[in-house]
Amino acid sequence: MDTLPKITPLRPSRYALDFNALPQHVALIMDGNGRWAKERNLPRIEGHRRGSDNVDPIVTFCREIGIRHLTLYAFSMENWARPKDETLALMELLKDYLVCKRGKFIKNEIRFQTIGDLDRLPHFVVEEIEETKRLTKDLNRMVLTLALSYSARDEIIRAVNRLLKDKDQHRFQDSYISVHDFGRYLDTQSLPDPDLLIRTGRERRISNFLLWQSAYTELYFTDILWPDFNETCLIDALRDYQSRERRFGRISEQIGEE
Ligand code: FPP
Repeated sequence: MDTLPKITPLRPSRYALDFNALPQHVALIMDGNGRWAKERNLPRIEGHRRGSDNVDPIVTFCREIGIRHLTLYAFSMENWARPKDETLALMELLKDYLVCKRGKFIKNEIRFQTIGDLDRLPHFVVEEIEETKRLTKDLNRMVLTLALSYSARDEIIRAVNRLLKDKDQHRFQDSYISVHDFGRYLDTQSLPDPDLLIRTGRERRISNFLLWQSAYTELYFTDILWPDFNETCLIDALRDYQSRERRFGRISEQIGEE
């Protein structure tokens, strides 16, 4: 599953982080674009534009310090209920982001992939998604996953339906499936579970993101709105993560034992 090479972080002393204890998978709910715009009397779409501009610096920083997997919640299935001009603007921003940044993905050896049900996305976005995936599929330094038209419950139901189909067609013979094997039916089959989930924008909820995968994920909520979330905010989140003891149901004294 995790075959990515270890990255030697650049300028490690600058960040006061333990680079041997970084989360290998960070998931991010980029919330607060609308409120960022409202607080400045700007249209909501301007908030999304600024939010979109903020994606590249965060991806670049994660790549620089050696985060192996970054998963961004860019558009939920529930977001389709928003006004049509807003969903269309988000689709355009997404397309522009991919067209503009895929050269950089290649240069920085970032593999691009998606989770979610792409069937509902407009063709002009799907085309760019497929092309970006194709161009980056063999790259190995970091994996950037965008959750698009994604809902965790929908992902689980699609997994169950794939399993039923496999059963029908005798590709799955058993009458029992393990937690591990079920994970292989999910969109995230190639990803480790997230170690850290960050939500910007003042809300304290998961909003149908990676529900199965976040069973033991450390949660971090910040009041910073997504367009203002910068390197320093991310370092704060990583430091907070590093201050936690992850016991996975065990007791302190067992941590570090095989
Ligand atoms: C939540 O803010 C954010 C979204 C629904 C979309 C996130 C999209 C981007 C950051 C830009 C496009 C993404 C990429 C990868 C180029 P909100 O609108 O719910 O904010 P609010 O809660 O303040 O209204």
